[in-house]
Amino acid sequence: MSERRPRVGVTRRLPSAVEVLLRQRYDVVQHESPGPLDAMALVAMMREVDALLPTVTDILDEAVIGAGLGRCRMIANFGVGVNHIDVPAATRAGMTVTNTPDVLTEDTADLAMGLMLALMRRMGEGERAVRAGTWTGWHPTQFLGRRLSGKTLGVVGLGRIGRAVAHRAERGFGMKVLAWSRSRRRGSEAGTRIERVNRLEQLLEASDVVSVHCPLVATTFHLIGKPQFAQMQREAVLINTSRGPVVHESALVEALETEMIAGAGLDVYEEEPAVHPGLVGRENVVLLPHLGSATVESRLAMGMRAIENLEAHFAGRDVPDRVN
Ligand code: DGY
Repeated sequence: MSERRPRVGVTRRLPSAVEVLLRQRYDVVQHESPGPLDAMALVAMMREVDALLPTVTDILDEAVIGAGLGRCRMIANFGVGVNHIDVPAATRAGMTVTNTPDVLTEDTADLAMGLMLALMRRMGEGERAVRAGTWTGWHPTQFLGRRLSGKTLGVVGLGRIGRAVAHRAERGFGMKVLAWSRSRRRGSEAGTRIERVNRLEQLLEASDVVSVHCPLVATTFHLIGKPQFAQMQREAVLINTSRGPVVHESALVEALETEMIAGAGLDVYEEEPAVHPGLVGRENVVLLPHLGSATVESRLAMGMRAIENLEAHFAGRDVPDRVN
């Protein structure tokens, strides 16, 4: 008699190679439609599986975890950020939570650099003009942006992605890099010219570009708000590829309206997929739809990494990417 295969609930369609492998190894309960599951559907899925493979759009709060508690003992998140999961509640419920670090670092860092360039060189404005047919040809003073090379970059949160951005800025663009993180270590990073500052304020005051790379946790919620915009230079721009709520979105709109700062490049928003109406009409912002890890390479690797975590869990081994 064959052994029962573990049952895994998959909340979104994934790259086909990942889906094929999942189906080879597990009894897969797949949510087929394009949108995310609501709380009731998540609970129902959790109750019928041994492990859940969710994404950033699945809100696994205490109520959902409590109501979904049955045989599910594993949440193998497809993504590095786990702010959509109440990890302490999952731990109390006896569940292992894992994520997919490393595999998306380079692509997210590339996107942050892309946002910096697009904003400083006014690429969004230019592209809109070309598409609208309002471009009248080359002109010596048209769409003049600002040079990125050689400027000062302030990296808020010096984890894997923050470091990858810092290295690109330093090596590729000759930028001076300042970094601040919650661990607040001082001095420079070995083998680099990244200078760690002790206070966030120091970084904000000195940077031409401020790029946010910290996870969303209680202490980073609205980390960048009105007081922080007031500390930035009027010519400075803000880049956020981390999580929307790290930046106070209405304070950002006010800072842009009152010209406290010169622009913003955003990949993430406080209430995704909604975007603050005060951002949408502005020329000096670049708005992307949460594309940080959106490459064929990253999404495939994220799926494979989630499967490695599932494999280890079902084999009773240590999971490689334990979060709790
Ligand atoms: C991540 O990995 O956290 C990305 O934002 C997608 O979830």
